[in-house]
Amino acid sequence: MAQTETWTVGRLLQWTAQYLKERGSDSPRLDAEVLLAHARGCRRIELYTAYDQEPSETQRTAFRELVRRRAEGAPVAYLVGEREFYSLPFRVTPDVLIPRPETELLVIRLLDLAGPRKNEPLRICDVGTGSGIIAICAAKHLPQARLTALDISPKALDVARQNAQRHGVTEQIAFVQSDLFSALPPGERFDFVVGNPPYVTTREMTELPPDVRNHEPRQALDAGERGLNVIEPLVRQSETRVVPGGYLLFEISPMLRDTAAGLFGLPSGAEDGRPRAPWADVQFIKDHAGRTRVVQARRT
Ligand SMILES: C[S@@+](CC[C@H](N)C(=O)[O-])C[C@H]1O[C@@H](n2cnc3c(N)ncnc32)[C@H](O)[C@@H]1O
Repeated sequence: MAQTETWTVGRLLQWTAQYLKERGSDSPRLDAEVLLAHARGCRRIELYTAYDQEPSETQRTAFRELVRRRAEGAPVAYLVGEREFYSLPFRVTPDVLIPRPETELLVIRLLDLAGPRKNEPLRICDVGTGSGIIAICAAKHLPQARLTALDISPKALDVARQNAQRHGVTEQIAFVQSDLFSALPPGERFDFVVGNPPYVTTREMTELPPDVRNHEPRQALDAGERGLNVIEPLVRQSETRVVPGGYLLFEISPMLRDTAAGLFGLPSGAEDGRPRAPWADVQFIKDHAGRTRVVQARRT
């Protein structure tokens, strides 16, 4: 950015969008707007009526630093420390996965199933809570529910706790550091076990965009050779953690659909069929693009 030019909001956005595009950003204009709004301490929409204004030197210095780090590949959500999910803002740090829009499908399905029972004291376990998005959205929409939010990462749990506090739901959620259910009392069971576990295969890890591969926590993504390191024991252990009539719901990659069917004793490609006991009504829920994103199974 040349020093002699008049750096209005409009000009800064134009220059930065072009610069980030050349450095490989998929969404250069959006990135520029989010970062400039953050540096100015305003909402993105407020930039649109400020095109002719000149940000202060302090704001420009802060913006330059954000743009530099973005050009090096740091994700925007980590740079501004926040990402929206299910219409709520969540704090994010490099200790947690950045919430993805596809995970909203899991929350929608949970609320569809639990909504009619919202006056019951439902018990819900969010396995691999990360920033806490699933547990916190569930707590906000199901005020009678009691949640357990598990994660193997203590640093992720710190972020999840901060988000619960921000959204006023700490009373409803117990945060537990645990490898799957191992830290819970043996008899503790749930009406719903939900989660977005790691499901990226070792080979897919090498093909992830550098933003993801180099910046998001490996423990949140890498699920071994077949992508099943967490999902397989999750399904097995859920047999004794979901009450009869309760549900197991978890996110998968579309590539894992047939493998996930196999975990329930269903043939590849089956849309229905008889799963192995104690599971029934196994469903593969697709997103708007027709890709399987969520597996739902009822415990008999
Ligand atoms: C894909 S991230 C999902 C985070 C958050 N639920 C979301 O949807 O954005 C998976 C999370 O599972 C956690 N995790 C990985 N292995 C685990 C295990 N064996 N037991 C509990 N949590 C685990 C990771 O630390 C990470 O926070």
